Parts: sequence; C-alpha cells; structure tokens
Amino acid sequence: MPGTIGQVPEDSRPPPRGLMDTAEFAAVVATRGAEVVAARLAPFLTVARRARIEAVLRARVASLQVAIEDPQDPHNVAAVVRSAEALGVGAVHVIGGRASGLLSRKVTRGTFYWADIRHHAGWDDFRAGLPAGMQLAGACVDPGTVELAVVPVDRPLCLLFGNEQSGLSARARAACTLHFRIPMAGMAESLNLSVAAGITMYTLLERRRALLGGAGDLPDQELAGQRARWYAKAIDPRLVRRALEIAGERTEEESSS
Ligand SMILES: C[S@@+](CC[C@H](N)C(=O)[O-])C[C@H]1O[C@@H](n2cnc3c(N)ncnc32)[C@H](O)[C@@H]1O
Repeated sequence: MPGTIGQVPEDSRPPPRGLMDTAEFAAVVATRGAEVVAARLAPFLTVARRARIEAVLRARVASLQVAIEDPQDPHNVAAVVRSAEALGVGAVHVIGGRASGLLSRKVTRGTFYWADIRHHAGWDDFRAGLPAGMQLAGACVDPGTVELAVVPVDRPLCLLFGNEQSGLSARARAACTLHFRIPMAGMAESLNLSVAAGITMYTLLERRRALLGGAGDLPDQELAGQRARWYAKAIDPRLVRRALEIAGERTEEESSS
C-alpha cells in the first residue's frame, strides 16, 4: 500500500517534506538488506518497543489468511482487519468491493497500520496474489458444508467470506477446496460477516498454533523484512531517512560482513 513510512504526527498537515515513501524504503531494503536496515533503525526505538514488535511478528501465522469477496460495508472490512491483526492472522485480502472500507480507521483504531492488507481489483488478481500452495476454504451458511470445528488445519489456508447480501459468488465457491459453516441454533439465517470471520479466525488460529507447536510461522526472510518495515513505521518518519543516510558509519553487523 502506498504512503509514507513511519508515523506522521496528527497535527502535521501537510506531512513534513523529505519523508521516505514505502516504495523508496522497499528499494533501500532491497539494496542494503533487511537486517542492516533494522540495525540502523533499532537505536531509535526503546528496548521495550522492539521487544513488543518482535513478539507480535513472531506470533503472526502466515499460513492462515483471510479474504473477503466484494464487501459493501466499510465497517465490516474494518472490523475484520482489526480482529485479524489482533489475533495474528497473516494477511487480509479484500477482493473488489468498496475500497473506502479500508479507511474506516475509527473501527480499526490504529491496527490498520500494522495489518497486512492486500486489496485486489477482482477475483483474478486475488488468485494470482495468493501464496503458492495455499488452499481456499469458503465460509457458507449452507447446511451441506462441514462444521468449522472439523476444518483441517494441517495446510496453509485462506478463509474466504462472502458479500453481506449475496454471500460467496459461484466462482469463489467453485475455487474452494472445502466449504464450512459455523453451526447456528437461532432464527437468524446467517451471522454478520465480521462476526463469522472473527469466530472462524479465533477457532482455526488456536488449532493451527497448537499444530505448529508455537505462536507463529513467518518465514525468517519475511520476518526480517517485516521487522525492518515495522521499525521504520514505529519511529518519527524524519528519523528514518536520517538513520539510513548516515554516511561513513557502519553498524556492527555491516562491519562484520
Ligand atoms: C451476512 S452473510 C451473507 C448471507 C447470504 N445471504 C448468504 O447466503 O451467504 C456474509 C458472509 O458471512 C459468512 N457467514 C455468515 N454466517 C455464517 C455461518 N453461520 N457459517 C459460515 N459463514 C457464515 C459467509 O461467508 C457469508 O457469505
């Protein structure tokens, strides 16, 4: 997602000049390596802040992701993003729908900033961007589907939720390896989309983490990249450029390489 790297103070309108944007930051990481960039930025964060970032990144389950097809209510998107970030889901895919949903910061309360949100213009873009080997599990209200409790978690899964009115499209259903339902016992014919997503994420993350024998499963290389990005996000954006442009000084890590 485009934008500046680092937190822009609320009162700075327009943002200060000289900020590094995400593309420029990514280019620096690609050239110098994520570890070196993180080492440069680390002194600008407290030990406690770095420890928090490390704990959160190590709890991310990259092998469990969520997708919402054609959502119409921005509050639903925002609520799914917030729950996904809080619970440690690897990424949230938003397929079509109203992109403005991503801007509902009131509901995401800053978690928006830390969530990995991937917006796809349509179904084909979504499929192309899905990690290799990740299977689709479609959430449906149909009685013929398997119950959430028995959805297998021994493989990377993307949990797919449908539009508020029409549910999953025929194309989305056909692309799913399995379809599941959250059993209901009331008169309502379905749960709210974000509630269904919340129940599903919580249930399957618990089981997936138990299977992994740990908190999360971000691969080392991805973890290093995210660490560099999160360090940059966590500090004053003006410091990012300064920290990365200090000439002549080498970090311990650079000196030993
Ligand atoms: C408000 S529901 C849409 C209801 C729609 N009339 C339908 O037939 O699917 C929005 C989405 O939430 C998810 N959902 C709602 N209740 C569910 C349940 N009991 N089990 C599984 N998914 C559910 C589904 O992904 C659904 O597409």
